[in-house]
Amino acid sequence: MESFRKKLNKSNIPEHIAIIMDGNGRWAAKHGKARVLGHENGVESVRSVVEGAGEIGVKHLTLYAFSTENWDRPKEEVDALMSLLVHAIEAETESLMKNNVRLSVIGNVDAMPVNVSDKLNGCIEQLNQNTGLNLVLALSYSGQWEIVEAVKHMVNDAIEKKILPENINDKLFKTYLSTTNIPDPELLIRTSGEYRVSNFLLWQIAYSELYFTDKLWPDFRKDDLFEAIFDYQNRERRFGKTSEQLMS
Ligand code: IPE
Ligand code: IPE
Ligand code: MG
Repeated sequence: MESFRKKLNKSNIPEHIAIIMDGNGRWAAKHGKARVLGHENGVESVRSVVEGAGEIGVKHLTLYAFSTENWDRPKEEVDALMSLLVHAIEAETESLMKNNVRLSVIGNVDAMPVNVSDKLNGCIEQLNQNTGLNLVLALSYSGQWEIVEAVKHMVNDAIEKKILPENINDKLFKTYLSTTNIPDPELLIRTSGEYRVSNFLLWQIAYSELYFTDKLWPDFRKDDLFEAIFDYQNRERRFGKTSEQLMS
């Protein structure tokens, strides 16, 4: 039973929502299963959330699927996550196509096994004419990695005299980030009751509204997304101004 969709203000849907999908391991432990089964059950949550976001007109949905730091997990878990990714892409591409979803990836794709990056690139190409939701997967991603990459490119451009140091500002900096073509997320959601950012979108969440829920990722469904958006819609975003200024 979906109860939050009806409550949403259709003229105030965030353009970009980012989600830290956390709690798969704990979900598995709770059900007496191996961690990888937690990850497998998380795929259903991704399906539901992608569907829900598309239905209400969210333009960009960025999902934190694998962080730079996650490479330090036991090899069996990393391997299981990589093969789950390949299987999920194979299984989901058709319904993504049907739902008019585009796919993009942010992160150090070069660090991924070749079979995974090949699958990803194939899926991205297959969906690239779609005009609906832009699904952004953050893979082998971390905010600090992204910022360091941006700085490297910027310094190179400065050495090659393509940019002048005195022209560097926040707007120019953003053009060096992997999210350069999409607006910063208005809303950042993290599941599993952890109150941290874990190196996700550090630059882009400067003014995001943060929403935390105790739900574990494999239990999260589109109505939980709608609930988060409903919560977001009842906040006042002041961007440093006073409440009175916003009223006038
Ligand atoms: C999130 O679930 C998935 C990834 C980080 C890949 P976790 O695997 O972190 O689950 P917990 O936090 O151990 O419960
Ligand atoms: C963050 O979850 C990364 C992803 C959801 C992909 P983690 O489970 O890795 O975060 P920490 O280590 O608990 O902060
Ligand atoms: Mg975790």
